[in-house]
Amino acid sequence: MLCAEVLYLFTRVNFNRMEKINIDQKLTLFQDHWNPRVIGELNGQQVKLVKAKGEFLWHHHENEDELFYVIHGILTMEFRNKTEVLGPGEMIIVPRGVDHRPLAKEEVHLLLFEPASTLNTGQIENDRTRRRLESI
Ligand code: NI
Repeated sequence: MLCAEVLYLFTRVNFNRMEKINIDQKLTLFQDHWNPRVIGELNGQQVKLVKAKGEFLWHHHENEDELFYVIHGILTMEFRNKTEVLGPGEMIIVPRGVDHRPLAKEEVHLLLFEPASTLNTGQIENDRTRRRLESI
């Protein structure tokens, strides 16, 4: 086996330690808004947690579909032609290329599932862009 392959496997096994992950416990580890944390990785996809409050910006992702699952609170997902309101236990998949804007009047806690390449602000780069995400 090539050295790089061994290193890759070690990194993966080290991050995915085959231990259960408690979502509520992970949510106690950060308080800021619109700054996703990575809690798991599989098959080139990442599982992220994010706390959100207020309006995000209109954006889309050229190459990635995004999954939003609401853990606590209410998420409004605006599209150009309609709006969906999600409560705890509900999820929505935003297809690649589709303009969307998440917003939350009160704080909402979300689980995201999307390719590791997904940038939170999509095709837009500004002060809300988070290129390097912390793993917790
Ligand atoms: Ni998005």
